[in-house]
Amino acid sequence: MPATIVMGGQWGDEGKGKLTDALAGGAVMVVRANGGANAGHTVESEQGVFKLHLIPSGILRPDCTCIIGAGVVIDPASLVGEMDALLARGVGLDHLWISDRAHLVLPFHPLLDHLEEERRGDAGIGTTLRGIGPAYADKAARLGIRAADLLDEVSLRSSLGKALDIKNRILSSVYGQVALDLDTMHKELVDLGERLRPYIRPTELMVQDALDAGAHVVVECAQGAMLDIDYGTYPFVTSSSPTAAGACQGAGVAPNQVSRVLGVFKAYGTRVGTGPFPTELFDAAGDTIRERGREYGTTTGRPRRTGWFDAVAARQVVRLNGITDVALTLLDVLDTFAEIKVCTAYRHQDTEVRHLPARAEDLAQMSPVYASLPGWMESTRLARTATGLPDAARAYIAYLESAIGAPISIAGVGPSRDELVPMRDDAIAGMLVTA
Ligand code: GDP
Ligand code: IMO
Ligand code: MG
Repeated sequence: MPATIVMGGQWGDEGKGKLTDALAGGAVMVVRANGGANAGHTVESEQGVFKLHLIPSGILRPDCTCIIGAGVVIDPASLVGEMDALLARGVGLDHLWISDRAHLVLPFHPLLDHLEEERRGDAGIGTTLRGIGPAYADKAARLGIRAADLLDEVSLRSSLGKALDIKNRILSSVYGQVALDLDTMHKELVDLGERLRPYIRPTELMVQDALDAGAHVVVECAQGAMLDIDYGTYPFVTSSSPTAAGACQGAGVAPNQVSRVLGVFKAYGTRVGTGPFPTELFDAAGDTIRERGREYGTTTGRPRRTGWFDAVAARQVVRLNGITDVALTLLDVLDTFAEIKVCTAYRHQDTEVRHLPARAEDLAQMSPVYASLPGWMESTRLARTATGLPDAARAYIAYLESAIGAPISIAGVGPSRDELVPMRDDAIAGMLVTA
């Protein structure tokens, strides 16, 4: 059976971790495709609440092989910390593997991320400060050091020396910082490398072997399509491609091996960090969404900006990513609203616009045109079938389906693993065949 991609359709935190864990129940493998420890993916299982950053969200399923793919940037210290925390909670890691091609986030990357954000001042991106941008920049500049390099102490020292030579010059001349010490960094990395050695291998071959054997492989993206470096709200984006195409590249899956692209969208919108967010709410409705949805960053704890569902952006994301079906999460957060709004167009001066402009400053000038729908004013938490949802909730789902041009196959009605409503047969087993 071919691959399923699980990707975020908005600005991240849509519930990808929960959906990946759910689909992993019927899959043999989960491959994380992009991003790094900027991600925070929550899985609430019988064992408790897990906030995963680098480790794939299939990890709580012992029979599911979990791979950190070549497209991920790995902070080795952060990964070892996450591994230890899972082991301490009784989660085994015998099924975890790390791509030898994945680039490393080195100690100077978070430092440069901080310094660059400081330098930008009010025009800051609001990054997670995890060194993601600087690490991907070095990858593209062909200065990067990869997981495979951790395994050879001598060549690691030589490549680290070359990288540090440039970084130290930048740190001192541009930012007035003291130089970082090669010996200390090398020793730390050698130790971390020894710890990670058993897990590092050419994972793209494992992925292809699984697909050749007809197994169901789930590719887990981090972030969301609106944070994509090409099609997101540049420059207020991340530095990778959290898209269906990026998922293929990062996991080592060919486009024609993908049968399903599950777009995960919240029933409303959120965004962390700066950048345009046309449907943002600054009133009591926004606060209600934040409190009911516990909208505080999984990685940084920052309060998330909240707003109504943006169907203009969602429709564009559906088209550009070939989204076959949608998981609409956090529907229960809207349970107390008498009226729910959906953005159907942007108004720019006297014209209505139905696509995302290239420039963030142009999007920031646009105001949302809303459709208003009746709320259902009752709890959806106990629903486990489509017919168990209130009529107005089903009508909201049907409205969104037509507004964004994709079927909604799953609804989320609470944070726990079981709080999912399949709107179509087999939507959660992962074998959904879309028309
Ligand atoms: P991710 O980054 O896409 O994996 O999402 P996060 O884990 O950062 O944020 C999603 C948050 O919503 C987490 O706290 C989840 O536990 C929670 N969540 C996921 N689905 C639902 C849902 O359907 N209802 C509610 N109330 N919470 C949900
Ligand atoms: P998950 O996988 C939400 C945002 C940051 C910032 C921008 C750039 O949990 O959905 P970066 O550190 O990547 O250079 O920051 O992207 N961002 C996220 N927002 N969820 C995430 O991940 C995010 N990862 C990065 O807030 O605006
Ligand atoms: Mg998150």
